[in-house]
Amino acid sequence: MMGYVHLVFLSAFLSVSMTSETFDAMEGEALVIKCPPWSSSVKVTWHHTASNKIIPAEEEGSRIFSLNRFLWFLPTSREDSGNYTCVIHFSNNRTKSFNMSVQVHPYKQGVCFPSQIRYPNDTGRGKIVCPTIDNYKNATIIQWYKDCKPLQGERYFKGEKYIFINNPRKKDDGYYTCQFIYTHKGNVFNVSATRIFISKAKHSPLPPQILFPKDKDVIEVELGAALSLKCQARLGIKKQWMAVVTWDVNNIPVKNLDFSRFHEKTHSFEGRGQEYYRETTLHITEIKKEDLQANFTCVAVNEMHNTKATVTLQLKAQYGKIYDAYVIYPRNHTNEANFVEYFVYQIMPDILENKCGYKLCIYGRDIYPGEDTASAIEKRMQKSRRLIILLTHQLINCTEPAYDQHIALYNALIQNDTKVILLEMETIGTYEKLQESLRFIIKRQGTIKWKEQHTVHPQSSNSRFWKHVRYHMPLTLKSSYSANAG
Ligand SMILES: *[C@@H]1O[C@H](CO)[C@@H](O)[C@H](O)[C@H]1NC(C)=O
Ligand SMILES: *[C@@H]1O[C@H](CO)[C@@H](O)[C@H](O)[C@H]1NC(C)=O
Ligand SMILES: *[C@@H]1O[C@H](CO)[C@@H](O)[C@H](O)[C@H]1NC(C)=O
Ligand SMILES: *[C@@H]1O[C@H](CO)[C@@H](O)[C@H](O)[C@H]1NC(C)=O
Ligand SMILES: *[C@@H]1O[C@H](CO)[C@@H](O)[C@H](O)[C@H]1NC(C)=O
Ligand SMILES: *[C@@H]1O[C@H](CO)[C@@H](O)[C@H](O)[C@H]1NC(C)=O
Ligand SMILES: *[C@@H]1O[C@H](CO)[C@@H](O)[C@H](O)[C@H]1NC(C)=O
Repeated sequence: MMGYVHLVFLSAFLSVSMTSETFDAMEGEALVIKCPPWSSSVKVTWHHTASNKIIPAEEEGSRIFSLNRFLWFLPTSREDSGNYTCVIHFSNNRTKSFNMSVQVHPYKQGVCFPSQIRYPNDTGRGKIVCPTIDNYKNATIIQWYKDCKPLQGERYFKGEKYIFINNPRKKDDGYYTCQFIYTHKGNVFNVSATRIFISKAKHSPLPPQILFPKDKDVIEVELGAALSLKCQARLGIKKQWMAVVTWDVNNIPVKNLDFSRFHEKTHSFEGRGQEYYRETTLHITEIKKEDLQANFTCVAVNEMHNTKATVTLQLKAQYGKIYDAYVIYPRNHTNEANFVEYFVYQIMPDILENKCGYKLCIYGRDIYPGEDTASAIEKRMQKSRRLIILLTHQLINCTEPAYDQHIALYNALIQNDTKVILLEMETIGTYEKLQESLRFIIKRQGTIKWKEQHTVHPQSSNSRFWKHVRYHMPLTLKSSYSANAG
C-alpha cells in the first residue's frame, strides 16, 4: 500500500532492522498511520524520531496521540512533517523499530492531492481501491474525484472502499482521489487519498445484472410437473475470468442440495458489443408442495460485485371458465318423459354442442344427484359463462325454487357477473306470478320464445330460435368461424 524503502542493518543494540515508509497528507485533514504488524509483540510505542520523545496516548484535547500500532493526527498541521518511529517491544526486551516519514502538504485552492503520489499505480481492469482507508475505523467515502473533478455517471460503480470503471479506456487514465469522512469521538474529519490509474483492460467486468428472472417474480406451477427456471446475467465485456451464475434454494446452493429433483445447467455466450452473458437453468424434475414455500435465488457474481434475484412458486390459478352455459330447467319428479327433458338432454346438446361447438353443463348429465349437489352446482356455475333458464309453467308454479335457480339468480343479479339467457319454452302469458328477480331480467332483456312449430322440426338449427340463442351465447372458435364463413 505504501511506498517502501527497505534499509536493513544491524543495530549495535537490540533493535534488529529499520524500515522507512512515507505518508503524504493534506493539511487540515485527519491522518492515521500504522506500524507493521508483528507476531509476539508485547506493545508498540511511538516516538518523535529526532527528539526520541514518546508520543502518549490520547488525552483531553490532544491532537497527536498513539495507541498500540496506530498514530493519529487529528487533524494534521504543516509542522507535523517529519519522522516518527514506532518501536515494537518483545517479551525478551528485544525491540524492532520502523521510521515513518510524514509529509503534510499545504492546502491550495483547486489542488486535491500532493504532487507526489506514493500509493502504487492501479493498472487493473477498472477497480480502484481507496488507499489507506483501512487505517480509519468506520470511514465513509463521500466523493471520488478524477484529476480533482467529481466523478459522476453510470460508468462508475461505487463499492464501499473502491470504485469500478465500466470498460476503462485511455481517457480514464489519471489521478483518482477518494474523499472520505472519519469520525472520532463525535468530531468529523475529512481524509483524502489519491492514486494513479492507467487503463489496461481488454476484458472488463460490468456491474453484474440479472436480465431475468425479475426479483420477487412469482411463477405459476402445477404440482408434480417439471419446471425449468432460467437465469441470465450480463457480467462484462468479453470473457470474464470470474463469472458465476447459480441458483440457491433457501440460500443453499443447488450443488449442495442432496435432492435429486434439482439440476443446474450453465452456458455462456457473447452478445451485442461483445457483452458477456451467462445463463443457468435450474431444472426441477417434479414440483412438490414444499417448493411452494421455498425461495429460489439466482446469484450472479463477477470480480466487481454480486447481485441476486429471488423468485417463488405458486399454484396455477383456477382454470378459466370451462362451460359456455349452465342449464337450469324444472326437474321432473315423475317417471313420465316430458318435452322439456327431451329438449335439455337431446335437442339442445345436439344443436349447441354438436353443431355449434359449445360446452354445456346439465344437471343429471354433468352433475349427478349423488354428488354433494349444492357445492357441485355452485362450482360448475362459477365455471360457466352463461346461465340458460328454461321458463315453464312447472318452474313458475313451483312453490320452492330449485337450489340452482336460486344461486343462478343470485349470481346474475347480486354479483352481476354472469349473463342469463331466458328460454320461454311454454307460453307463459302474464309474468306476474314469476319471482321478482326473474321479472326484472325479463323486463331488461326479454325472453327467447320456443314456438310449437319448432317442436315439429326441432333439429333445424337455422330456425330463428337458435339464431337468437347463439346471439346471446359467448363466442367460440367454431361459432366465430362459422359466423365469418357465413
Ligand atoms: C531512523 O531514526 C533513527 C533515529 O534518529 C536514525 O538513526 C535512523 O537513521 C533512521 N533511519 C532511517 C531509515 O531513516
Ligand atoms: C526523515 O528521515 C529521512 C530519512 O529517512 C531524512 O532524509 C529526512 O531528512 C528526515 N526528516 C526530518 C525532518 O528529519
Ligand atoms: C528486561 O529489562 C528489565 C529492565 O530494563 C530487566 O529488569 C529485565 O530483567 C529484562 N528482562 C530480560 C528477559 O532481559
Ligand atoms: C505510476 O504512474 C506514473 C504516471 O504515469 C508514473 O510516472 C510512475 O512511474 C508509475 N509508477 C509505477 C510504480 O508504475
Ligand atoms: C460511523 O460513522 C457514521 C457517519 O459517518 C456515524 O453516523 C456513526 O455513528 C459511526 N459509527 C460508529 C460506530 O462510530
Ligand atoms: C470536508 O470537505 C468538504 C468538501 O471538500 C468541506 O465542505 C467540509 O467543510 C470539510 N470538512 C471539514 C471538517 O474540514
Ligand atoms: C424467503 O424469503 C423471505 C423474504 O426474504 C423470508 O421472509 C422467508 O423466510 C424466506 N423463506 C425461506 C424458506 O427461507
